Amino acid sequence: MKIIDTHSHYNLAQFDEDREAAIGRMREAGVGTICVGIDLETSKLAIEIAGDNADIWAIVGQHPTEWKKEFDTVEFAALAEGKNVVAIGECGLDYFRPEDKDHKDEQVILFRQQIELAIESGLPLMLHIRPEMHTMTAYEDALDILEEYKKAAPGLTGTAHFFAGDIRIAERFLDLGFYISFSGVVTFVKDYEATVAFVPLDRILSETDAPFAAPAPYRGKRNEPAYVTEIVKKVAEIKDLPLETVQEQLFNNARTLFNL
Ligand code: NI
Repeated sequence: MKIIDTHSHYNLAQFDEDREAAIGRMREAGVGTICVGIDLETSKLAIEIAGDNADIWAIVGQHPTEWKKEFDTVEFAALAEGKNVVAIGECGLDYFRPEDKDHKDEQVILFRQQIELAIESGLPLMLHIRPEMHTMTAYEDALDILEEYKKAAPGLTGTAHFFAGDIRIAERFLDLGFYISFSGVVTFVKDYEATVAFVPLDRILSETDAPFAAPAPYRGKRNEPAYVTEIVKKVAEIKDLPLETVQEQLFNNARTLFNL
C-alpha cells in the first residue's frame, strides 16, 4: 500500500453489487482507504468492512444532513471503541440546501455531540463542512465552535474533508492543528489551486469521497478509492514536486492523523 484514500464509502448501496471487486481494484492500485459512516447503520457496516480487510479502516458518526435523527450517544460511544475505528464523523455543518440550512440549530447540536465524543474517545474528527454557494458561513460557524472546544481540549484534531474553503479558512484550520483534505474536484476545476499551493505538504490529505465526485479522467462515472492516484498526481503538479515525494508525504500524513 502506497496511498491512503482518507475518505470513501464502500458502505453505501452504490457498492452493493460489486464491493469485493472494487476493493480488489483498490488493492491492485496500491491504495488503502478509510470507510466513513453517515449514520448508525452505515457506521456499523464500515466497521464490518474494515474488519474483513486489513487495508480498510472505519470512521463512525452522523452526517450533518441527518439532523432529523437523534444522535445515539451510547451506541456511537461503543462503536468508537472498535479497534479499526480511527475517527468520528463525518460530522459538521451543511448549509448547501435551504432545507438543511434552515435547521442550523439541530445541526450544531449534532456537531457538538460528535466533537464531545471525539474528545472523550481521543479520536480525530472527519469534518463535513459544506457552505452555501458564494459564502463561507458554514466554515466560519464550524471554526468558531471548534476553536471554542480546542481551548479546553488542546489535543482535539481532525481534517476538513472535501475542502471547498478559501485560503483564509484553510489558515484557521491549520492554526487549529487540523489537516485539509482535497478531493477529485481539484483535477477538473482551477478554483482550489491557490489553496493547494498554500497548504503545507505535511498538512494535506487526499481522498475520493467515492462513490461521489470522480476525478478526471473518470468524471461522470461512479468514483472508486483506486482513483485517488489522480488526486495525488494533481497535488504534485500544483506543488511542482516529484510524485514520489508527494505520495510518500500524504501517506505519512494519513498514518499520523489517524494513527494507522
Ligand atoms: Ni463522504
